[in-house]
Amino acid sequence: MSNRKDEHLTIAASQDVGSRHTTGLERYALMPCALPEMSLDDVSMATSFLGRRLRAPLLISAMTGGTPRAAEINRRLARAAQRLGLAMGLGSQRVALEGAEPMTTYQVRSLAPDVLLFANLGAVQLNYGLGPDACHRAVEAVGADALMLHLNALQEVIQPGGNTDFRGLLDKIARLCSQAPYPVIVKEVGWGLSAATARQLEAAGVAAVDLAGSGGTSWSRVEGHRLASEHDREVAAAFEDWGLPTADALMRVREACPTLPIIASGGIANGVDIAKCLALGANLVGMARPLLQAALESDEALDQRLEVTLRQLAIAMFCCGARTIEDLGPERIFVRGANHGL
Ligand SMILES: Cc1cc2nc3c(=O)[nH]c(=O)nc-3n(C[C@H](O)[C@H](O)[C@H](O)COP(=O)(O)O)c2cc1C
Repeated sequence: MSNRKDEHLTIAASQDVGSRHTTGLERYALMPCALPEMSLDDVSMATSFLGRRLRAPLLISAMTGGTPRAAEINRRLARAAQRLGLAMGLGSQRVALEGAEPMTTYQVRSLAPDVLLFANLGAVQLNYGLGPDACHRAVEAVGADALMLHLNALQEVIQPGGNTDFRGLLDKIARLCSQAPYPVIVKEVGWGLSAATARQLEAAGVAAVDLAGSGGTSWSRVEGHRLASEHDREVAAAFEDWGLPTADALMRVREACPTLPIIASGGIANGVDIAKCLALGANLVGMARPLLQAALESDEALDQRLEVTLRQLAIAMFCCGARTIEDLGPERIFVRGANHGL
């Protein structure tokens, strides 16, 4: 299992594992404001999520843990999140909860005392021996502020020996939400949450969803690189363009759940994408693979990648006349190519 974790890091960083289609964000643009009537310094990216202040609405999405290499990456990500006032997700803690690896590879709290930090587990593990007690231990062992449960049905069926019994999970999630003394967030891993699923999760009591749409990292492609048999590779190949693109997921989930806190992620490439997602209704925006690639290089490469991204967000806000994150509403968006009666 821990070998698999390192394989995921290597494949995600070095192979072409992008979805065969785009996020759909290219269909939308921010309406330029040629007269912003403010100074660039007036722009504030500060926001809050689950009651916590963030210096910018960016989440370093869940990626790793469980091996010495993963521990180093988690520490690097945590230091950057602390320095820049961002939120951070840890990778699935299953290997540590099952005792196969030490929990220390996930423990970054001392490096990131102020960071909004999310523990992580596969929701399907609720059917494979990890109950609410294991969830509580996952949160407590790393000093997390909330638990993220990921939904990854396609990944589980494609990988050999995956956990494919997804029966009864909604009820188990609802029970956990009602008992847990911390917020529970449910995320996808890159195929997108539909409006119907988001509505079910909201009714189950989740504190937020991360819709993790398609257009970025494709886990059927990541797992495809690990498959030994031609038969399995052929099965996986048909799913390279599976999923609800991030922009479509965001429009649908926001319409279905007008007040639910939403994290948008999946193929977010830069600060302009972040600004578009916020204007389309997201409360926080997540990035995974682009930050992994930088983090594997060096602390400096990661800092530079994050600083460039945040600079792009500030400039996008300035050039569309949004002084604050709250100012970034749907009125700032136009659909490219749409005829506006001219
Ligand atoms: C190497 C790697 C490992 C990941 N591991 C996890 C994980 O353990 N738990 C999880 O919820 N998501 C995991 N993800 C999914 C990401 O959190 C994210 O939802 C997905 O990669 C889409 O974002 P992206 O297009 O910015 O990469 C992982 C992603 C990558 C690239």
